[in-house]
Amino acid sequence: VRRQAAAAARIEDKNQGQGNKNTNTKNYSQTSQRANQTKLFPISGVKKGDRVAIYLPMIPELVYSMLACARIGAVHSIVFAGFSSESLAERIMDAQCSILLTAGNIHTHSHTHMHTHTHRHACINKKTSSSWCESDYLQMAPLCDPEWMDAEDPLFVLYTSGSTGKPKGVLHTIAGYLLYTSLTFKYVFDHHQDDVYWCTADIGWITGHSYITYGPLANGATSVLFEGIPVYPHVGRFWEIIEKYRVSKFYTAPTAIRLLMKYGIEPLQKYDLSSLRVLGTVGEPINPEAWMWYHDAVGQGRCPVVDTFWQTETTLPFFGVLPIILNEHGEELEGEAEGYLVFKKPWPGIMRGVYGNQECFENTYFKKFPGFYVTGDGCRRDKDGYYWITGRIDDMLNVSGHLLSTAEVEAALTEHSAVAEAAVVSRPHIVKGECLYCFVTLKDFREFNHSLMDELKRKVREKIGPIATPDFIQNAPGLPKTRSGKIMRRVLRQIARNEKDLGDLSTLADPKVVEVLLSQRCEAAA
Ligand code: PRX
Repeated sequence: VRRQAAAAARIEDKNQGQGNKNTNTKNYSQTSQRANQTKLFPISGVKKGDRVAIYLPMIPELVYSMLACARIGAVHSIVFAGFSSESLAERIMDAQCSILLTAGNIHTHSHTHMHTHTHRHACINKKTSSSWCESDYLQMAPLCDPEWMDAEDPLFVLYTSGSTGKPKGVLHTIAGYLLYTSLTFKYVFDHHQDDVYWCTADIGWITGHSYITYGPLANGATSVLFEGIPVYPHVGRFWEIIEKYRVSKFYTAPTAIRLLMKYGIEPLQKYDLSSLRVLGTVGEPINPEAWMWYHDAVGQGRCPVVDTFWQTETTLPFFGVLPIILNEHGEELEGEAEGYLVFKKPWPGIMRGVYGNQECFENTYFKKFPGFYVTGDGCRRDKDGYYWITGRIDDMLNVSGHLLSTAEVEAALTEHSAVAEAAVVSRPHIVKGECLYCFVTLKDFREFNHSLMDELKRKVREKIGPIATPDFIQNAPGLPKTRSGKIMRRVLRQIARNEKDLGDLSTLADPKVVEVLLSQRCEAAA
């Protein structure tokens, strides 16, 4: 908190070009002596209920900033540092954030400034913690009294892909969220005082919010905070860190497991993994090969693997959460069954709304089957009562555990001046789980070639971010549509997946379109 306040003071000095640091920090120190008047960001003026955008890599300052907001009752809105400046700007505007905390080396910052002209803008100058100058901290008061909050006051907003293409600001409140992250962390990972826990997620996503910051810290857990990627500087990086810190609980995503599996067990054998006791996985369905490798090679056959299904919107289904399976008509299915995964009752960790958009909240989660929370996932229950998530059943796709909506990628593609129409579907990918396969119809006289493909990819990266980069782009002189003009995505998905039997095409306005698309399918990634 002290560091954050110091940084905020420095930021304000720089940006406003008035006052000097000493005066400002002194003011803070003086006021901080008075209980209850002391609040973080004393100079930048952030107060209870204000929204604070945070756009930082996985550095300790990211955690300090979150906790500082929670302490003073400000609502944080963290934007994954891999998102583009446009995505950042969109989220800042939607949540009406009054301040942005970022790192100077995130290249998009100046660009974002243009978009956020109505909002105050702050920049933490460098990426490393050393840039938050020690002398600043020393001048800070050692304590900042917490703001008293109602259990249902907002804690944070976190954006997740929406099926309409516009991201939704999922709103979580204080008490239920903390209760659930704290309790689920404790029981799902069987937390004990001597554990060293490591979740490899990024705090820019809900897993990092819940299982790097709030859950572990509420339990006083010792955790590893990792900034980096699993294969740099070498492919044994994860195993090296597990050995170095004697990690006992390890939580990662299937996409990371599949990536590391490719290098075989040799990199694992160089390290001592005997400290591991529980392994966790999250973010997407885990395929049997990846599960076996995780269990046998990483966990050496002795660690249970907890597969945790949950969402930005939900936090873990757990004590008090009632998952059920419905058929298309909304009828509850008993025993062995496959259908729509829904939840029958609310529970403390459920989202409280879509920020600023109650209608979107109701339509997205409660409209299809009134009275139930609809996850958007398909699910099968086996004879032993286990639930198997089969994947998204809406227009969402899951790339390396990150949810994207096909509509947002389509919107980015059609922004290019050569594109008349675009349709995006998912295609299985050996490491990412799913990847993007895009069909584009060009405007008259525009030519489909490699340089256009590169431009389209760049467009998507700029609009959304590198995670949304298309793997396949196919020229589509026409798209398969029903007579009422609706694109038949089922058919496009089948073409993308090279399925031979395309089923009933009788509702198509022009079945010939499909033959053309089939003859021009992409075999290899663009
Ligand atoms: O489709 C499900 C998939 O990820 C979606 C939620 O994504 P997000 O809100 O970004 O949160 C990710 C981190 C919890 C779900 O609707 N999903 C998440 N965990 C699993 C999963 N699918 C299968 N198995 C899982 N363990």
